[in-house]
Amino acid sequence: MSIPSRVSIVEVGPRDGLQNEKQALSPHVRAELISRLAAAGLTRIEAGSFVSPTAVPQMAHTDEVLALVPKENLRLSVLVPNLRGLSDAIAAGADEIAVFAAASETFSKRNINCSIEESLERYAEVVAEARRHGVMARGYVSCVLGCPYEGEVDSGRVAAVAGALFDMGCFEVSLGDTIGVGAPLPARRLVERVARVAPIDKLAVHFHDTYGQSLANIFACLEVGVCVVDSSVAGLGGCPFAPGAAGNVATEDVVYMLQRMDVETGVSLDRLLDAGAFACAQLNRAPASRVAQAYAAKCDRPVDA
Ligand code: HMG
Ligand code: MG
Repeated sequence: MSIPSRVSIVEVGPRDGLQNEKQALSPHVRAELISRLAAAGLTRIEAGSFVSPTAVPQMAHTDEVLALVPKENLRLSVLVPNLRGLSDAIAAGADEIAVFAAASETFSKRNINCSIEESLERYAEVVAEARRHGVMARGYVSCVLGCPYEGEVDSGRVAAVAGALFDMGCFEVSLGDTIGVGAPLPARRLVERVARVAPIDKLAVHFHDTYGQSLANIFACLEVGVCVVDSSVAGLGGCPFAPGAAGNVATEDVVYMLQRMDVETGVSLDRLLDAGAFACAQLNRAPASRVAQAYAAKCDRPVDA
């Protein structure tokens, strides 16, 4: 098996990371983090969410964040749960939106207060309206390898939800292991199952690192042709609706692994470490990234590949 020579990283730290940190950061600090991530060479960044501020207070004022960040060479995406979120995202100048469905009924209800079917009906309108405005729409499926409330999740159901998101016009679907229970072979089998309904290069993988399996999972998925990987600088975050879930796999760890395998990412590890250090200083926490920890301990810096 071979792996792709280039992998596109979708940096989700400013959204998925910060949405689950106890301390809410100001729009200025969130924008500064995005600017540093962009300076590291990341071109696809999830900048925030237009959701209920009661549900996720950390993502309030995403419009102000978008107004403050540089737009050159950057595709900024935001999460939207409904038409109201979409119209706020368009007004704020987002390049891309992401709608987020689930493969588990209970998670769907807890996360967005509706059934999977209702969410897909709502998202069909949101995606159609986004496309009418020239805004690209990404889709997420959560709980693809397990649900915090229902346990096992059927891969056929994941494929059905992913297929529905493609059918309504999403250009890419990200498969979210929301609680990080996946392991390499189940992850690869899931991707192969979903690839029956969509080209594999339109699938992204989104691993939370609760059980430390993310890098192995990513490698297993690269081997079957996945070339888009979501990750969060410093491994920030988790999910407010998935108790106990850890943050996403750290972007530093993904970039290091890919660089050591001569896979192109376009990302400077050195600058990325700066962005991670900035985020951690603002949040008064240590990075979950093993690579950041290793470089901090050695007091040296990587030479970018
Ligand atoms: P609801 O209660 O069914 O909706 O919530 P509603 O229409 O009755 O509205 C409730 C309140 O929210 C109202 O305010 C609305 O105005 C307001 P109130 O009258 O109570 O003051 N509202 C909004 N405010 C701002 N922007 C909006 C908006 N819509 C309604 N767009 C709703 C439904 C979806 C709105 C709510 O449940 C919600 O916002 N949930 C947030 C979900 C969320 O952000 N979850 C985390 C992201 S998902 C994730 O992390 C997983 C992922 O990373 C992949 C993975 O790891 O698997 C993507
Ligand atoms: Mg997530």
